[in-house]
Amino acid sequence: MNSENIFKITNLSQVYEGKEVLSLPELSIKPGEKIALIGSSGAGKSTLLGILSGTIDTYRGEVYIHDLPINTCISKKKFHRKVGIIRQHFDLVGELSVINNVLAGRLGEWGFFKSLFSLFVPQEKKKAVSALTRVGLIHKTYRKTSTLSGGEQQRVALARILIQNPEVILADEPVASLDPQRAEDILKLLVKLVDEENETLIASLHSVEYAKKYFTRIIALKDGVIFFDLEPKEVTEEKLSSLYSFKGDEIIHER
Ligand SMILES: Nc1ncnc2c1ncn2[C@@H]1O[C@H](COP(=O)(O)OP(=O)(O)OP(=O)(O)O)[C@@H](O)[C@H]1O
Ligand SMILES: [Mg+2]
Repeated sequence: MNSENIFKITNLSQVYEGKEVLSLPELSIKPGEKIALIGSSGAGKSTLLGILSGTIDTYRGEVYIHDLPINTCISKKKFHRKVGIIRQHFDLVGELSVINNVLAGRLGEWGFFKSLFSLFVPQEKKKAVSALTRVGLIHKTYRKTSTLSGGEQQRVALARILIQNPEVILADEPVASLDPQRAEDILKLLVKLVDEENETLIASLHSVEYAKKYFTRIIALKDGVIFFDLEPKEVTEEKLSSLYSFKGDEIIHER
C-alpha cells in the first residue's frame, strides 16, 4: 500500500450474472490527477466509479482509499467527507429550493433531518451562497430546483459538491444530458473548481475531445479491462479507433 495514492486497486474483479464485467489487476490514482474514463457503452466505467464511490460492494479484490479498504474501514460519514459524487441525474430534490439542495452537501456530516428542515447555521448558509456565486447561480438561490434548466441543475450539483469540500470527485457522465455548448461550459467549470481546491477528479465521459482537452490522464476501458492508460497527448486516432472497434484487438498497456 502506498499512502501517496488516493486510490489503490489490486486484483479487482466484478462479476454480474456469471460474467466478469471488470477486471483490474492494478490501478493507482494520485492526489490531484484529473482522470477521464472512456470506452464504449458497457465497458465498465460506471461499475468502476460505483466501486470507488462505495455504492458497489460486491467486487473481489482490494480497493483502498489512502490506506483504508473502502468497504470495511471507513464510516459512511468520513467517506462522504472525502469523496464527492456527481451522478448523471444529479440527485437533486426538485421540490426543495436551490440553497437547500446545496446545503444537502453537508448531509453526510449533519444528517438528513437537519438538512430537510433547513436547520443550518448562518455560517453554513454563507458557504452555500458563496458556492452558488462561484457557479454563477446566486440569482436562483431561493428558486424551487425543479424550475431550473438541466444545465442550471448541474451547476447546483457542483455547488453542492463545493460545500462538501471533498478530496476527490467522482463523476459519472457529468455532462451527458446537456447540449454541447453547455456541456463544455460545465466541464470547464468543474475542472476549474477542482484545480482551485487541489482536488482529484475521476469522470467518465463519452467525449474523447473533452477528455483530451481537460484531463491529465485518460484511462480507456474495453470489455472490462484497461485498454490503455495514457497522457492525453499520447492518445492517437489509431488507438481510439481500435478502442471503439468491435474486434477484440490487442490490449495496449503503456504508462
Ligand atoms: N447491476 C447489474 N447487474 C447486471 N449487470 C450489470 C449491472 N451493472 C452493470 N452491468 C453490466 O456490466 C457491464 C458494464 O456496465 P457499466 O454500466 O459499468 O458500463 P459503462 O461503461 O458505464 O457503459 P455506459 O457508457 O453505457 O454507461 C455491462 O455489460 C452491464 O450490462
Ligand atoms: Mg455508465
